[in-house]
Amino acid sequence: MLHSLSGISSLLTLLLLSTTCLSSQSQLQGTLHRRNYFYVGEQYVDEPGTHNGTEIAFGQIYVEHLVPATVTQTLPILMIHGHGMTGTNFLNTPDGRLGWADYFMSQGFEIYIVDQPSRGRSAWQMGIDGNESAYDATTISSHFTAVEKFNLWPQASLHTQWPGSGIAGDAIFDNFYASTVPSLNSDEESSVKVKRAVGKLLDDIGPVILLTHSQSGQYGWILGDFRPSLVKTIIALEPIGPPFINAVFPPLTPARPFGVTEIPVTYSPPISSASELKTEVVPSLTNASLGTTCFQQAAPARQMVNLKDIPTLVVTSESSYHAVYDSCTVGYLAQAGVPVTHVQLADVGIKGNAHMMFMEKNGLEIAEKVVLEWINKTVA
Ligand SMILES: *[C@@H]1O[C@H](CO)[C@@H](O)[C@H](O)[C@H]1NC(C)=O
Ligand SMILES: *[C@@H]1O[C@H](CO)[C@@H](O)[C@H](O)[C@H]1NC(C)=O
Ligand SMILES: *[C@@H]1O[C@H](CO)[C@@H](O)[C@H](O)[C@H]1NC(C)=O
Ligand SMILES: *[C@@H]1O[C@H](CO)[C@@H](O)[C@H](O)[C@H]1NC(C)=O
Repeated sequence: MLHSLSGISSLLTLLLLSTTCLSSQSQLQGTLHRRNYFYVGEQYVDEPGTHNGTEIAFGQIYVEHLVPATVTQTLPILMIHGHGMTGTNFLNTPDGRLGWADYFMSQGFEIYIVDQPSRGRSAWQMGIDGNESAYDATTISSHFTAVEKFNLWPQASLHTQWPGSGIAGDAIFDNFYASTVPSLNSDEESSVKVKRAVGKLLDDIGPVILLTHSQSGQYGWILGDFRPSLVKTIIALEPIGPPFINAVFPPLTPARPFGVTEIPVTYSPPISSASELKTEVVPSLTNASLGTTCFQQAAPARQMVNLKDIPTLVVTSESSYHAVYDSCTVGYLAQAGVPVTHVQLADVGIKGNAHMMFMEKNGLEIAEKVVLEWINKTVA
C-alpha cells in the first residue's frame, strides 16, 4: 500500500499545490496520507417497541484512520475529543489552518480519531441511548474562546491565542460553534460506552499513544486501567476534574465518585464501592472564592495499580479554567501511584492559551514543544 501511495504522490502534490493557490491560507498542502474509516463496538438490539426481527445497532463509534505516506513511528496516536465536540477538533482549525492530526502525520505517526458514542457520526438511537444536550454559544465563548471578555476565573484575562473574537457573529467562532454537537448528559453512560467501544478498538489495533482532552480525560484513566498493555502513554490535555467535585462553575456538585472517573477503576487495596475511598481536603489547593475544593485520599492512599507503568502527561494552559484546578487532579494521580508529569504551558514559555489549545493560533507549537517532546522522551 505504501508503494502505491508513493507512486501517486507527485500527482497528488500537484493537485494539492493548485488547491493551495485558490486558498487564502498558506501552508495548506498538508501531509500526504490515506484516509479510511470504520465503526467498532456495535451491539444489536430489538428496536424499541418492537419484537425480534427488527434489530438496530447501538454503541458503535466512528473511527477515522489516517495513514501518512511515510510512517516512521511504531505507535499510532489515538485522539479522543471532549464534551460537545467530535473528531473534527483534530483535523483542521476553525480558521482553516492545519490541525494536530496533520502535524503528527508529518512526524510519521498513524492517527486514529474517534467520535464518542451517540455523537457526531456515531449513531444516537432514540429510546436506547440516553438524553443529550448541547452547549449554547455563550457557554462556548465564556469557557473556551473568549474567556478574557467574561473573566469567570482570575487567569482568564491572560487569554490571547484564540483566532478571532471568539463571539457569535465572528466567522471563525461561528464555524467552530457550528461544529459542536449534543452529547450524552450522563458521563457515567458515556464512560461505559467508551470503555466498551474504544476498548474493542484497542483490542483490534494494538498499542497506542492515547491523547485525551477535557471530558475524555477520564476515559484515559478508564482505558489505561482496562487495557494497561495497550495504552503506552496517556497525554491528557486539561482532563476533566478536579477529583470528586465540579469546580469553578456553580453548582459545585459531587462528580467522579471514583476520584477521577465516573465508573469503577482498579484500586489496590480493592474497593467494592466508591464510598470506600476515604478523602480529605488539600487546604493549599482549595480556594472557596474560586469555587475549588481539592480532595485527595486520606493516607494511606489506595493505588490505581493498572496505571502504575503508564507514563502520563497532563497539559494545562495559562488562562483556562483548568489552570485553577489541574494541579489537584495531578496530585490525586501522583498520590495514587500514577507516574504523572504536569506541564503548565506558561512554565515552558507558551502563553495565553485557553481550553481549546490545539486549535488556537499557536496550537502547532504546543504539539511540537510539549506533546512530541513528551512522546520522544517516553515511548518513541
Ligand atoms: C421473538 O418474539 C416473540 C414474540 O414477541 C417472543 O415470544 C420470542 O421470545 C422472541 N424471541 C427472541 C429470540 O427474542
Ligand atoms: C429524557 O427526556 C425526556 C423528554 O424530555 C424525559 O421525559 C425523560 O425523563 C428524560 N430521561 C432521563 C433519563 O432524564
Ligand atoms: C483565592 O483566589 C483569589 C482570586 O484569585 C485570591 O485573591 C485569593 O488570594 C485566593 N485565596 C487563597 C487562600 O489562596
Ligand atoms: C522528536 O524526535 C524526532 C525524531 O528523532 C526529531 O526529529 C524531533 O526534532 C524531536 N522533536 C522534539 C520536540 O523532541
